[in-house]
Amino acid sequence: MTTSPAPTIRPTTPTDEARWKEIFRAYREFYRLVPSEEIVSRVWSWLTDSAHECQGLVAEADGSIVGIADYRRFSRPSAGSVGIWLDDLFTDPEARGRGVGRALISRLQAIASSEGCSVVRWITADDNAQAQVLYDDVAAKTNWLTYDAKPTET
Ligand SMILES: CC(C)(COP(=O)(O)OP(=O)(O)OC[C@H]1O[C@@H](n2cnc3c(N)ncnc32)[C@H](O)[C@@H]1OP(=O)(O)O)[C@@H](O)C(=O)NCCC(=O)NCCS
Repeated sequence: MTTSPAPTIRPTTPTDEARWKEIFRAYREFYRLVPSEEIVSRVWSWLTDSAHECQGLVAEADGSIVGIADYRRFSRPSAGSVGIWLDDLFTDPEARGRGVGRALISRLQAIASSEGCSVVRWITADDNAQAQVLYDDVAAKTNWLTYDAKPTET
């Protein structure tokens, strides 16, 4: 029996652009978002701007990027601490079930620990059963609901 090597997790670098964009397009397609190269390029520009809060990790296996995670830090006034928010997580469908998602989340937990952050947090869709198989194993499901309000002029 052959086993896949553990993926290597590292921050995005400028040379990842073409492959990162492919994966990010697939991620947006998974959420049935209207395709937009403008958005894909904008988010990539955030990740390559060291002053921007949004940062990216990639998972590499056999020399190819097979997964991505975008994250940022957020202040938690009630706790007086900083947390890490995981915005986007995606594994190439061909590479699923081989520990890529787990390794990306694990790296975020290590970053949180090294920086003294109090939590790694993310949201997922209620019906995303596949993702929840992993999440239920690595994190605690909360009872918080998410609300979105529209920007309105006063
Ligand atoms: C959620 C997602 C990132 C998980 O990535 P992954 O690399 O498959 O995750 P892992 O392999 O680390 O863990 C998946 C778990 O699902 C199960 N699994 C087994 N075979 C699997 C397969 N072929 N496909 C998916 N999951 C499988 C396993 O229980 C595995 O846990 P294990 O480590 O105990 O074996 C991936 O399914 C994905 O990109 N989905 C579409 C986008 C999405 O839902 N993103 C998250 C939005 S919040």
